[in-house]
Amino acid sequence: MEKDLEQIVYVSSASHLMTDSELITLLNKARDNNAHLGISGMLVYCDGTFIQALEGKSAVLRALFETIERDPRHKCCFILLHQKITQRAFEAWSMGFRAVSQELADSISGYVDFFGNRPIPEKGAAAYTLLNSFREQHDRELHYSAH
Ligand SMILES: Cc1cc2nc3c(=O)[nH]c(=O)nc-3n(C[C@H](O)[C@H](O)[C@H](O)COP(=O)(O)O)c2cc1C
Repeated sequence: MEKDLEQIVYVSSASHLMTDSELITLLNKARDNNAHLGISGMLVYCDGTFIQALEGKSAVLRALFETIERDPRHKCCFILLHQKITQRAFEAWSMGFRAVSQELADSISGYVDFFGNRPIPEKGAAAYTLLNSFREQHDRELHYSAH
């Protein structure tokens, strides 16, 4: 069992609507760095909103989050969850990624308007549900494609 693990889930607002190639550049860099740092997680981009789960050793994770928070490609980083964990939820991914449309997000149970007027614990739980639903869907796809 890994020791000293923490997880952060935050939402932020992209400084401008990201193009596919900007997203790919961001993701390639993140995956590369995270693989070296022992960070895993999931990033969702939906019409100008980022939702990201990051997990890893606490000191490494906190330092990385400080860097991410200062990144001019987004603003208003808002932490929904910051907790100690005993097991990684996104172990296999240096950074899983999904870009979703607003229509799809609206149709997913667990998606809420993250910048709307909801209590923070509710938003944290909702973000977690959303990220997990993508992870489970991905796991199922892998399972099917292996047969
Ligand atoms: C929404 C968002 C998510 C990001 N996620 C990560 C990440 O998971 N890992 C990472 O290393 N950088 C991430 N970045 C990029 C960092 O802010 C920063 O540009 C990068 O870590 C710098 O890496 P370098 O010092 O190797 O150039 C993210 C940036 C944004 C805007």
